[in-house]
Amino acid sequence: MSENNSNLLSLIKARRSTRKFKQRPVEREKILQCIEAVRFAPSAEHSQPWRFLIVDDPAKKELLVKHAFSGVYSATRWAAKAPVLVVILAELDFLANRLGKQITGIHYYLIDIGIGGEHFVLQAQELGLGTCWIGWFSQKGVRKALDVPRKYKPTAILALGYPDVKKYQDKIRKEPAEMCWFNNFEK
Ligand SMILES: Cc1cc2nc3c(=O)[nH]c(=O)nc-3n(C[C@H](O)[C@H](O)[C@H](O)COP(=O)(O)O)c2cc1C
Repeated sequence: MSENNSNLLSLIKARRSTRKFKQRPVEREKILQCIEAVRFAPSAEHSQPWRFLIVDDPAKKELLVKHAFSGVYSATRWAAKAPVLVVILAELDFLANRLGKQITGIHYYLIDIGIGGEHFVLQAQELGLGTCWIGWFSQKGVRKALDVPRKYKPTAILALGYPDVKKYQDKIRKEPAEMCWFNNFEK
């Protein structure tokens, strides 16, 4: 393995979902560096469907938390203490996400958002920032709190900030043999 690859793997292995943050603000230059990493992500038909609404204003964040993480979604209330909430929205294009999806049945924008979002996450990791993907939120609530134009679909949220975690709990990871085959599904 080349040195570069092993550096990347170390960064990937060090990333963990962070749900507790220092109350230190996150520098906008660092957030913009994460956005720069998104720009170079691949996407179906180069559609680049990702859009980001970065919420670092405390009053705006409170409004977002109130509407996005209430009722059935209150399990996500911990995110209220993240200094930044990054709302990832999708703008669906015609070719990949309407025509392409109709033919193959694949929601390409979800793949694209996942890749772009993870570029953001890994760049954040390199900058010493912690993140957590959030899928458990009210789309309607996000729309209401942030006045989201109809053409943008709230698809995920990232909690972002400097981690306040001494030790992350170990997680059991699937072994390669449980999820990877060469050429056919026989062992
Ligand atoms: C698409 C997606 C949605 C997620 N939604 C939530 C969420 O709503 N709340 C939460 O606490 N964690 C959420 N997570 C974080 C996962 O629980 C976490 O990635 C997983 O348990 C593995 O732990 P690790 O990230 O520390 O490796 C989400 C992760 C992904 C990729």
